[in-house]
Amino acid sequence: IRAVPVGCGHYLPERVVENVEFEKTLDTSDEWIRARTGIERRHFAAEGEKTSDLAIAAAKAALADAGLEAHQIDAIVVATATPDQTFPSTATRVQAALGMENGFAFDMQAVCAGFIYALANANAMIMAGQAKRVMVIGAETFSRIMDWTDRGTCVLFGDGAGALILEAQTGAGDQSDSGILYTDLHSDGRFNDILYVDGGPSTTGTTGHLRMLGQDVFKHAVAKLSASGEASMSALGITADDVDVVVPHQANLRIIKKVAQKMGIPLERVILTVQDHGNTSAASIPLAMSVARQQKRIAKGDLILIEAIGGGLAWGSALMRW
Ligand code: ACO
Repeated sequence: IRAVPVGCGHYLPERVVENVEFEKTLDTSDEWIRARTGIERRHFAAEGEKTSDLAIAAAKAALADAGLEAHQIDAIVVATATPDQTFPSTATRVQAALGMENGFAFDMQAVCAGFIYALANANAMIMAGQAKRVMVIGAETFSRIMDWTDRGTCVLFGDGAGALILEAQTGAGDQSDSGILYTDLHSDGRFNDILYVDGGPSTTGTTGHLRMLGQDVFKHAVAKLSASGEASMSALGITADDVDVVVPHQANLRIIKKVAQKMGIPLERVILTVQDHGNTSAASIPLAMSVARQQKRIAKGDLILIEAIGGGLAWGSALMRW
């Protein structure tokens, strides 16, 4: 049995905010943001627009792409660090909005690595026979946890959602199969304090704001993402030449370039959406994957490497064949 991708979709809120807009309120510039991050613009959710609204739209797009109806899905996993509410899970809101009375739904919290954690979990559920089809969603409204006076963070993030449907199919059992071929997960809680939100129900009772030591995160990101990507490739016995497409977490163009270079993968094979979306945390990989599918940059049979790191620190990579 393999967990095979059969459809994906995404949603971006209507409002687009260009870098120059931050020049009105902050000591920053379009040039600085572009040069240091590669980000040119990002989408922000409208007032009242919730993470579940984004997730529902992405889920519907993925169902349409797969040619499936909601009742054919057994499980929904939503990776998010910005849920609608502390509880219930955003995933159960998506389940209800899709009109599903069957199956089960829950959230996964590994911040920017959330989609890879959710994918690994969905893969495990399919391999264990607990579900035949799993909808894996990354959805975030990071605009809700920004400190708009902190130029070191508020220019980096955006809102959005992406969804991928995995289906149990029998394969040859080797790496020529379509499906999730390998997942590599890590976390190290000693680094809690370099990227965190300074609020929460059991501490301040507030939602809080994102805090980050950017340079520290940068160094860890380059080292840990390239090591995880290399570990995934070596576990499958493949080299960088075998990877058709890389869909990295879209946090910073300089990190993406350095990681690709370390792994020996040319930038032409790397999907880039950070310029248009900013960092959408758990949503960034499925969003980029869906955009790449629309641009016909991912075809049936392509071997795809995904990698991400975020607060925790939590990071990982996965190899999958479309
Ligand atoms: N505009 C202008 N100047 C700025 C801005 C800004 N938006 N932000 C910071 N600066 C200033 C700093 O205050 C500092 O000024 P100082 O020298 O007077 O103190 C100067 O620019 C240099 O700051 P650095 O932090 O050294 O700049 P750096 O080149 O490291 O870039 C950045 C900062 C973009 C945050 C970078 O460190 C980075 O991208 N780190 C990784 C962060 C990241 O990607 N996090 C997300 C990954 S994990 C996740 O997705 C949740």
